[in-house]
Order: sequence, then C-alpha cells, then structure tokens
Amino acid sequence: MPFQKLKPAVEKILSNEELSVDHRLEQICDLLKENIPYYDWVGFYFKNADKEELKLRAFAGEPTDHTIIPFGKGICGQVAVSNENFVVPDVKTQNNYIACSINVKAEIVVPLFLNGENIGQIDIDSNTEDPFNIEDERFLEWVNEKVAGVLKSPSA
Ligand code: SME
Repeated sequence: MPFQKLKPAVEKILSNEELSVDHRLEQICDLLKENIPYYDWVGFYFKNADKEELKLRAFAGEPTDHTIIPFGKGICGQVAVSNENFVVPDVKTQNNYIACSINVKAEIVVPLFLNGENIGQIDIDSNTEDPFNIEDERFLEWVNEKVAGVLKSPSA
C-alpha cells in the first residue's frame, strides 16, 4: 500500500483514545509491517527514563533480545546521539551494528522528536537488500511527528 494511503490509517489508530498509547503504537507497527512488503520488523524504541539507553516500547515481527540498547551502540544507539536518520542499505557494511536476525539485510532508523528533543525512534528491519529511499524517510518522519503529538497528552 502506498504511503499516502497509509497515512489516514495511522491517524485513525493514533486518535483512538480507547486504546493505551502502547497499544496504539503496536497497531502502527502491525499496520506498517503488514502493508509494506519490505518492512519485516517494525519497532519503536524510547529513551529509558533518565538512563543513557533505549528501551523497546512496541514492535511487530519476531521478538528481539535487544529490548535495551545503550546510547552509541548499534544503528539505534547511534541515532539516539546523532539526531539524524540512519539508512543502512546493507547491514554487512556496518561495524557498529546489533544483529537481531540473520535474515536482516537492511535497516532504517528515524529519530522521534518531542518539543525538539530526540526522545525515541522508529526502527525498520528489512530482509530485502537496499529497499529504502527518501520516500520511506519522509513517511517515517511523518509517522513520528504524529506519534509525538499523541505523546504530548498527559495520559501518555
Ligand atoms: N539492528 C539494531 C538493533 C535493533 S534490532 O534491529 C530490532 C541496531 O543495530 O541498533
């Protein structure tokens, strides 16, 4: 499904106040994984309280051992400190990479900002080599902006 068609579905999930924020994040992970053929694992990591580490908050795909990732470690940990998108067309080329599955060939991590602060990220693993382009980056930035809007609410 093209990104433009997924946007209303993302907005609908996020606006469902009958669900907890964690449940809404899980539904977004499921939506993206099920509708974008080369998204094989989709997850949201967030800064873990006042620690210099990321904690997995929601995901779709195989469970991972890497539910806590120190800042600076792996692609995710690097994005926690760089504040920039990280697109990896071929994970074999990365020295600072944490493997979650031997099937993963590529990864994209896009930081999530709340009030200008990098508080988390969306992480996508793909079993297809070099599948991501600028459209993925723009779409995932948009998803993160919408998620940040929900996280502003006191109940989040
Ligand atoms: N590959 C990531 C770790 C998280 S898994 O992809 C779920 C990394 O290098 O940070």
